[in-house]
Amino acid sequence: MKMKKLLSVVLVAACTLSMAACGSGESKNTGSASDDSDTLVMATNAEFPPYEYHDGDEIVGIDAEFAAAIADKLGKELKIEDMAFDSIIPAVQGGKADFGAAGMTVTDERKTQVDFSDSYYTGRQVIIVAEGSDFATPEDLEGKKIGVQLGTTGDIYASDTPENGGYGEENIERFNKGFEAVQSLLQGKIDAVIIDDQPAKAFVAENDGLKILDTEYIEEEYALCFKKDSKLVAEVNDAIAALKEDGTFDKIVAKYITAE
Ligand code: ARG
Repeated sequence: MKMKKLLSVVLVAACTLSMAACGSGESKNTGSASDDSDTLVMATNAEFPPYEYHDGDEIVGIDAEFAAAIADKLGKELKIEDMAFDSIIPAVQGGKADFGAAGMTVTDERKTQVDFSDSYYTGRQVIIVAEGSDFATPEDLEGKKIGVQLGTTGDIYASDTPENGGYGEENIERFNKGFEAVQSLLQGKIDAVIIDDQPAKAFVAENDGLKILDTEYIEEEYALCFKKDSKLVAEVNDAIAALKEDGTFDKIVAKYITAE
């Protein structure tokens, strides 16, 4: 299975592209991120329902609420900074944010740049196509135009060479927001979008005429990311364990994802 092959490669190799793009996005960060302030600054990209998205002036979603609960456990106030997805790791590395929470997949490449918390959720990359299209398998999309969100695992996976199970750089169109890729698909400018399963479901539910390909997908682990050697990781892992244990985490998830 193409997808399978590709994804196993992604999880080991990963991220030259997003590394090249590092620092290209803009961050509105003004807060100070430090271990001893009473504020925890979270870097995110709020274009990823149901994990983080805008609801009016507010940033809501599983990551936003989970992070607020973690901050609460640590006796701190949470401040959320919205930025481009590929700016999150640089923001954390540079100390502009205390951690990143963005439905971020743990990859070996990213592990060389940041430390990750324990994983709190699993996701998978799925393929969205137009409802009326003949595309039924990942192989059907060879040589077609594929949309992805810049710097995501979907981008890394899809832009790899066909020999490695990808679709080849020349067939990939990168968007700053996942939804922009979906809009382009709706307009018939591209043939498919590769993105994480829950955002895919949210986008398909919000827009007529789209479907998710029914095929096997490899799981990815989501975790929070921190500056290397941050002493926060251990504290946050304790908070994650406690919030999973006492049902808080499940309650937050249930609020945003209805059971299938
Ligand atoms: N899980 C994917 C990755 O880590 C996509 C995450 C995108 N998140 C976001 N908030 N836009 O690359």
